[in-house]
Amino acid sequence: MKTLIIYCSDYKNNTEEIARIFAEKTDSKLINIRDTDDIDIENYSLIGFGSGVYRENLSPKLFRLVDKLNLRDKNVFVFSTSGVGMKFYNNKLMKLLESKGAINKGSFACKGSFVAREFTNNKIFDMMGRLSQGHPDEKDLKEAERFIERVVDSH
Ligand SMILES: Cc1cc2nc3c(=O)[nH]c(=O)nc-3n(C[C@H](O)[C@H](O)[C@H](O)COP(=O)(O)O)c2cc1C
Repeated sequence: MKTLIIYCSDYKNNTEEIARIFAEKTDSKLINIRDTDDIDIENYSLIGFGSGVYRENLSPKLFRLVDKLNLRDKNVFVFSTSGVGMKFYNNKLMKLLESKGAINKGSFACKGSFVAREFTNNKIFDMMGRLSQGHPDEKDLKEAERFIERVVDSH
């Protein structure tokens, strides 16, 4: 199964670390969306879409790309890194992918480090930022490996 991983990781390359694990494990092509917006997915049967979470959302660049793609019958998965590391941030993109006829193969999320004062004065984020330090860590990377193995096995 030919696999393509498309990701946005503009803040600290946290999501890129996860994307690289997926790419290594599946021998797939890796595309940073920053480098191109002209992506031909025709020859790929499994496509992973990943992003950091920026103000409650995955990158708008990823949504704009997905809007343009023909995803009918493509197997897809979504992954993200964020301060809280929760999968619910992936839901909106997955809904869009499904609405375009793609087949949901799963969703992965883990924490990604951030420094709150780099983008907000809101003190609530200070604590969250401290808890996110060091992520993705070894355990996150192991979980990413297990996730991609399950995705491939289920095909
Ligand atoms: C501008 C900005 C906004 C962010 N907003 C959120 C957020 O709403 N929720 C959250 O959990 N993390 C938030 N974060 C933390 C990032 O999601 C986290 O650092 C992520 O790993 C960044 O991924 P990247 O290094 O691949 O770009 C934000 C970070 C930045 C820089």
